[in-house]
Amino acid sequence: MKKVTLLGITASALLFMSGTIYLDSLFNYANQTVPNYINKDNTNSNPVTDEGATLGRVLFYDKELSANGNIACASCHKQEFAFSDTAVQSIGLTGGLTGRHSMRLVNARFADEDNFFWDERATSLEDQTTKPIQDHVEMGFSGTNGDPDIDSLIRKLETIDYYDPLFTVAFGDAIITENRMQQALAQFIRSIQSFDSRYDQGRAQVNNDAMDFPNFTASENAGKRLFILPPPAGGAGCVGCHRPPEFDIDPATGNNGITGQAGSQGGTDYTNTRAPSLRDIVNPSGDLNGPLMHTGEITTLEELIDHYNAVPQDPNNTTLDNRLAGPGGNLNLTNQEKADLVAFLGTLTGSDIYTNEIWSDPFDENGNLTVEASTGIAESFAEKVQLFPNPASDFVQVTGITEVTDFNLFSVSGQLVQSGILYPSERIAVNHLQEGVYLISLTQNGEKPLTIRFVKSR
Ligand code: HEC
Ligand code: HEC
Repeated sequence: MKKVTLLGITASALLFMSGTIYLDSLFNYANQTVPNYINKDNTNSNPVTDEGATLGRVLFYDKELSANGNIACASCHKQEFAFSDTAVQSIGLTGGLTGRHSMRLVNARFADEDNFFWDERATSLEDQTTKPIQDHVEMGFSGTNGDPDIDSLIRKLETIDYYDPLFTVAFGDAIITENRMQQALAQFIRSIQSFDSRYDQGRAQVNNDAMDFPNFTASENAGKRLFILPPPAGGAGCVGCHRPPEFDIDPATGNNGITGQAGSQGGTDYTNTRAPSLRDIVNPSGDLNGPLMHTGEITTLEELIDHYNAVPQDPNNTTLDNRLAGPGGNLNLTNQEKADLVAFLGTLTGSDIYTNEIWSDPFDENGNLTVEASTGIAESFAEKVQLFPNPASDFVQVTGITEVTDFNLFSVSGQLVQSGILYPSERIAVNHLQEGVYLISLTQNGEKPLTIRFVKSR
């Protein structure tokens, strides 16, 4: 007679069940590895926790955050495009278009500039996160134009089962407030980090950005020199505003001479002085993760360099950054230099952010999500409990339980076959079951549930 306890196979099968979050085995958001040369951080008083970022992930992908249930943050910030959108203007809840191009959400944490949006109108990432929800075009809880307001969203979220445990683990109780939503969403966005690029591999091997990187081609190293040298020294001066190693925007820039409005809106807009980190502007295959700038008017890296090579000197543009006025906006780059800059920008791309499950859609293909307290791998209970015989033909008995225990018996495909209560040393008849693999899940008062797999034989 063979005694078998927990099988690893059961635990891992459960862990990878899509559409389920297990609160006792959350992903690691809080303690990701950040290279030692990265110093900028706008976290302030809302540090990333595994619980908060998990809640933030669910909010980010939840279409219930829009008034008609059609749009999530992720509709316009897509993981496969570094959390941006390939459309120049993204589509909001009733087909309306955003006024500006959607922004990549990569390394948002690692920046000195802590005002968000192209025009920096959000005073913190927390402040930013609920603005799209309250935007009439984007998600529709604006409280104006006949829209519902954010309090009706909160009342709606209170009726959704999975938010009760998620808010409770993140904040200690299930109360939903706008402030808590902001904190959780900001934690999730700050957790999205990309430091596995060729730039990072090179940077880790040298003392500073000015040194040639051993893993770069000659053209990439030449492009890096152009990026970081000022125009009087023969460089392109990009470094003044996009500052390595974070490639965050200098908080003190003016605009960069891109002064239109997105799409067919016409008109001018001189207010845009923020850019997201220049990391991951192209994907691992070298394609742009969507068009560039607030207007989305730049659709290739060659056009990008051409813009900075001859920045439009418009007398009406009084807030053009003075580094781009006159000679600084007229670089006279050779074709080789342009190609070198393009090659360098391609080294800032990682691969993890595009596929890592920790930033992916937690809902299953039908849009459902379940939150479970436990994967069933709780050690204390698990160590004591054993099931025999296994395989079993007539009955199974569970030893090591000391009190009345609830049990559910599932077929291997997840169908509930039988449930009830079990007394210590009581047997469960299995003679009526078909041959096959079954899972028995035990819940003892105060203990985490435990799942044991057994085989029913003839
Ligand atoms: C309908 C499309 C759309 C939806 C939905 C949407 N966004 Fe955005 N997001 C944008 C656009 C467009 C911008 C740039 C807007 C601007 O600057 O005026 C933006 C900008 C941002 C920024 C600023 C990034 C930076 O570097 O400054 C953050 C952060 C952000 N969105 C997070 C979110 C969150 C969180 C949600 C869900 C609550 C969300 N977005 C929903 C389109 C969208
Ligand atoms: C004086 C400051 C300044 C300098 C110098 C500068 N930029 Fe920018 N850059 C900006 C600003 C501001 C924006 C956002 C503009 C907008 O969308 O209106 C921007 C946007 C960008 C974007 C688009 C980002 C996105 O997410 O769409 C790229 C790429 C870029 N710059 C690359 C460069 C390169 C390469 C150089 C050097 C040739 C350079 N920049 C020089 C200020 C500057």
